[in-house]
Amino acid sequence: MLIKKTDPIKSSEITDQKVYFNRRLFLRGAALAASTAVTGLLYRQLTTPSDETPAAVEKIANVQSPAQTATTATSEPLTPRADITNYNNFYEFSTSKTSVAGRARNFNARPWTISVEGLANKPRTFDLDDLLRIAPPEERIYRLRCVEGWSMVIPWIGFSLHKLLEQVEPLSSAKYVAFQTLLDPRRMPNQKSNVLEWPYVEGLRMDEALHPLTILATGLYGETLPPQNGAPLRLVVPWKYGFKSIKSIVKISLVADEPPATWNIAAPSEYGFYSNVNPAVPHPRWSQARERRIGEWGTRPTLPFNGYADEVAHLYQGMNLKTYF
Ligand code: MTE
Repeated sequence: MLIKKTDPIKSSEITDQKVYFNRRLFLRGAALAASTAVTGLLYRQLTTPSDETPAAVEKIANVQSPAQTATTATSEPLTPRADITNYNNFYEFSTSKTSVAGRARNFNARPWTISVEGLANKPRTFDLDDLLRIAPPEERIYRLRCVEGWSMVIPWIGFSLHKLLEQVEPLSSAKYVAFQTLLDPRRMPNQKSNVLEWPYVEGLRMDEALHPLTILATGLYGETLPPQNGAPLRLVVPWKYGFKSIKSIVKISLVADEPPATWNIAAPSEYGFYSNVNPAVPHPRWSQARERRIGEWGTRPTLPFNGYADEVAHLYQGMNLKTYF
């Protein structure tokens, strides 16, 4: 396993912590002041089996609000920006984590459109800047746990994916959401190699996609998302392994069947569709019981669902998570 030790970014490029923390207090206040009501109706319409009891519906509707969740994670030290932006997996640019930032440096992520299509009443292509007016981003501090055994605490800027999905009015036949990265080997040169099948694709079950913790991130540390982290828009699902967080998304499709996912295509016995962080299910070649927080010495235990069990464990009630790994 590779753990980054060097810090190639210039200190002048790193957000000053004091500036950042002042801005963060402002952002948190704004996020708390804003309405954080979950769109319970859409969530219930699309995720409630017809025979679901009122008690179960109540539980879904009472999912912790995004703002509360963001603040509970702030007691953990944030991973330095230099580590978040110089230790990356983004195979479209390089398979070497420390080379991605340099190779992606000139990637231009504007203008950018996202097509939201498939089983929806109002499929539509959004210009990203219009979308940000519809769904203003707020700060979400989430732990990210990579399947390789390292983890970070990242102050994302983003908005709940459900805010985008509700714009297109998904049909009740839409059971899954499929995501696709830009396919453009001129701009993403490693797509000329066959190291993975291109374009990179990912998928979520509809209830996972509508969960308020699931966000589309457009920034980190109070700034626009750098190319190496998936500019201009990437998925973040904090209770799943990092590889589910598909970068530079251009297409989102509402579909009836479980969609393909890049790492599951590449190595199905190693990477399942669900990929929930689970210390009890080892990767076939190494344990997932512990993790190394980037910037710390030693390791710490990995928590079920990456520490978000209170918020998300109910989504998987009755499922054998060793089978559905
Ligand atoms: N998305 C695309 N399009 N291509 C990739 O190679 N790598 C994934 C995920 N999203 C990847 C991707 C993996 S393996 C991880 S761990 C995370 O992005 C890493 O995100 P980070 O570089 O922001 O830490």
